[in-house]
Amino acid sequence: MAARTVAVVLAGGVGERLGAGRPKQLIEVGGRPLLAHAIAAFDAHPGIGEVVVVMAPGHLREAAAIAAPFRRAAAVIEGGATRTASTAAALRALAERPDDDRVLFHDAARPFVDREVIDRVLAALDGGDEAVAVGVPASDTMVVVEDGVVVSMPPRETMTRFQTPQGFRLGTIRKAYESALADPELRATDDCGVVHRYLPEVTIRVVEGSERNFKVTRPLDVVVAEHLASEDPR
Ligand code: CTP
Ligand code: MG
Repeated sequence: MAARTVAVVLAGGVGERLGAGRPKQLIEVGGRPLLAHAIAAFDAHPGIGEVVVVMAPGHLREAAAIAAPFRRAAAVIEGGATRTASTAAALRALAERPDDDRVLFHDAARPFVDREVIDRVLAALDGGDEAVAVGVPASDTMVVVEDGVVVSMPPRETMTRFQTPQGFRLGTIRKAYESALADPELRATDDCGVVHRYLPEVTIRVVEGSERNFKVTRPLDVVVAEHLASEDPR
């Protein structure tokens, strides 16, 4: 049986930095919630079999209503207190699937992920990579600062900003999370971070992302998102 691919849209956060008074994935741009934009991108991609939504506690009904019109939306589950806890909840929901299936984790707060970006992640998985990230070059000089002073300046050409989706062979991300969840000190901001820390022998491939695939995080991002949504209604 050919490996199947499930997309998990992570919408378990509360959007504190945006400060909209409700989870940011529920705010509308171009007449529909950010969450709907994100689901739509995967629902429309022929390489994706199912879409699973992980939603913030207390908002499951809203998420189910948003997901309902999409053909491939298979389940809405409750997230956890951190992004890694939300990913872990998704992995539990996928427990019956074979290790050779693939899973893509995407931030619901990135409404404008292009088909081409998803294509590149899937192509890397098809080519045998077990962990795939999406990156864009840093435009600013990046420095490491500790206690208000610069401690190192990595060469800018090596500096990359991660986006999502991040794609994995299911067995690989499962194994990484098994170790991660056993670590009381677990701290990671994304799923490749978990693989990097807990399965360091796995190569993490980085494919090209897109500037449109930015994460709505702060109020200015909503202005940009509104503009993009009005320019290019899906
Ligand atoms: N996320 C999640 N579960 C959490 C925290 C975050 O599924 N417990 C998701 C968010 O919903 C978002 C993505 O992970 O789609 C990226 O996280 P971030 O931009 O940090 O979103 P929030 O945590 O909601 O925002 P903030 O950190 O400002 O509170
Ligand atoms: Mg957060």
